[in-house]
Amino acid sequence: MSVSCNIIILYYSRNGSTQQLADAIANGVRKAGAEPILRTVSSDDAAASARDLVLTSDELAQCDGLVLGSPTRFGHMYSGLQQFWEQTSKEWLRGALVDKPAAAFTSSSSMHGGQESTLLSMIVPLLHHGMMVLGLPYTEPELQQTTAGGTPYGASHVEHAAGSRLSKHELALAEQLGKRVAKTALRLSEHEE
Ligand SMILES: Cc1cc2nc3c(=O)[nH]c(=O)nc-3n(C[C@H](O)[C@H](O)[C@H](O)COP(=O)(O)O)c2cc1C
Repeated sequence: MSVSCNIIILYYSRNGSTQQLADAIANGVRKAGAEPILRTVSSDDAAASARDLVLTSDELAQCDGLVLGSPTRFGHMYSGLQQFWEQTSKEWLRGALVDKPAAAFTSSSSMHGGQESTLLSMIVPLLHHGMMVLGLPYTEPELQQTTAGGTPYGASHVEHAAGSRLSKHELALAEQLGKRVAKTALRLSEHEE
């Protein structure tokens, strides 16, 4: 097994909801025995949270897995994240992310406001990079129990259903997603030895 397993959690959050999911995913990564690296993208949005550093191309190339998070913006990811992926041709040409596990998460204000289209559109650049995309299986009990966020396509939070904080089901599913990506990365690194 490799000495360390680094899982990048790359997200943008303007008002903190997506950041709460990022933190829950980071806990899941830690619980699985890997290292979460919380990163964001550069943004012109002065209101956006600047708690975490901007992801560098070296960090992207060296990661063992990646979880991508965005607020739902008219049914798509935040444009700054799309712009980020459009600047990754170098990594794409080198196959830097090929066969590494990945997943997505989102936060929206309303229940039927486009979470699933956002999550599905977020995994498209991950697939182009050759990543192995993971979701949440229905063997997770919280996926059956949630009355707010949490989808088979990735972790999520619905503000109008859960309030400003994540519901217990949203929190559990976000942690599970982080664990799943980290466990998969650890298993893959064992097979590379
Ligand atoms: C430009 C814009 C577009 C948005 N589009 C949607 C949308 O399509 N559906 C929805 O439910 N919420 C939408 N929202 C609300 C955000 O997705 C929601 O408040 C989210 O939880 C914010 O995440 P954050 O706290 O991490 O910034 C939009 C917000 C903005 C500013």
